Amino acid sequence: MDASHIADDLTHVLYTDAQIQARLAEMAVELDEVYKDKNVLMIGVLNGAVMVMADLSRHMTSHVENDWMAISSYGSGTQSSGVVRILKDLNTDIHDRHVLVVEDIIDTGLTLSYLISNLLSREPASLEVMTMFRKPDAANNDVEVKYVGFDIPNEFVVGYGLDFAGKYRNLRDVGTLAPHVYS
Ligand code: XMP
Ligand code: MG
Repeated sequence: MDASHIADDLTHVLYTDAQIQARLAEMAVELDEVYKDKNVLMIGVLNGAVMVMADLSRHMTSHVENDWMAISSYGSGTQSSGVVRILKDLNTDIHDRHVLVVEDIIDTGLTLSYLISNLLSREPASLEVMTMFRKPDAANNDVEVKYVGFDIPNEFVVGYGLDFAGKYRNLRDVGTLAPHVYS
């Protein structure tokens, strides 16, 4: 038996690395078509979107640029409040740029809704959102997300950039954590 493997902490794998990559390849074809002459600026939200940004942008064949924001939600625990503080702003002036926000997961959409209004105030030429995963509660807030990898059930998932207490981001598959991990 091998030493402990973080994948053993998953009770259920929702999407494998292969399924994620196949979906990203499909989305990249669509995005290349939309952005081929637009020198799109992809904005990733740290830390969760690191994997999606790296993989999606490399599936694309047109020119892209990448920049990053770090934000933190006020409020406690796992519940999103929608009140957000910018910890790291963009290095790029997005005025008149074609912007694609790249997200790991959208739950209530409150964080994203703040981010969108903040970015819109900088007057980009266009602003769209891509997320790898979306949960059902996102429907309760009217944030328009044009590109969605997978709609998933309302469960807490880890892997592929998504963490529990800072860990599991480096799992290639995405799944639900076994109860023994919480205790
Ligand atoms: P809202 O509700 O504002 O929150 O859309 C989005 C943020 O909440 C985190 N989040 C998760 N993180 N597994 C995670 O590791 C999950 O299942 C999950 N659901 C929400 C995440 O930081 C996301 O950006
Ligand atoms: Mg997180």
